[in-house]
Amino acid sequence: MKVSIIVAMDEKRGIGKNQDLLFKIPEDGKRVRETTNGHPLVMGRKTFESLGRLLPNRTHVVVTRDPQSLKNLSYQPHEIVSSVKEGVEVARKYPGSEEIFIFGGGQIYKESLEQGLVDRLYLTLVEGDYGADTFFPDYSDLGFKVIKEESHGLDGYQYRFVDLEK
Ligand SMILES: NC(=O)c1ccc[n+]([C@@H]2O[C@H](COP(=O)([O-])OP(=O)(O)OC[C@H]3O[C@@H](n4cnc5c(N)ncnc54)[C@H](OP(=O)(O)O)[C@@H]3O)[C@@H](O)[C@H]2O)c1
Repeated sequence: MKVSIIVAMDEKRGIGKNQDLLFKIPEDGKRVRETTNGHPLVMGRKTFESLGRLLPNRTHVVVTRDPQSLKNLSYQPHEIVSSVKEGVEVARKYPGSEEIFIFGGGQIYKESLEQGLVDRLYLTLVEGDYGADTFFPDYSDLGFKVIKEESHGLDGYQYRFVDLEK
């Protein structure tokens, strides 16, 4: 079983602003859909709310200290847990758990990396500073090595898909 992070960030490691994404790059959206299809997703309550719906063919595991806060949403997660570690453990029993995705946001990325839960990073590195209020942690000294890198300049954005593994 592998635990992977998938994330798009700008050159300041910014990942979000006002509880939304910084950019909507169609090729990046396609990469996220294709890479995570059929696999469980573990995410923070704020990211789950910002999705606005369930993504098809994926188990949604949501981390929160207050399960009641999800009750008013029109869509519901498959599992509610009280820590990232518990989220990964619960995700193991669902289809596609040979690879479990940490799906954000900033708090959950940080905690999963600090706790050494992550084996692989799928990064989309976008040129420019988009004025984020939420950031991905510094991953440069965590022992990840680049295993694949592709450059793209599409849809008005310059970006690279970079995959790293421990
Ligand atoms: N660029 C990307 O690839 C990407 C991907 C995902 C998200 N994002 C962006 O990231 C932003 C959201 O990130 P965020 O950092 O604000 O929030 P988040 O990580 O999505 O969720 C934070 C929430 O998770 C729960 N939580 C965190 N640590 C916990 C712990 N140890 N135990 C129990 N519950 C815990 C808490 O929920 P409660 O408050 O309910 O207790 C906390 O408020 C948005 O702007 C979103 O668009 C970007």
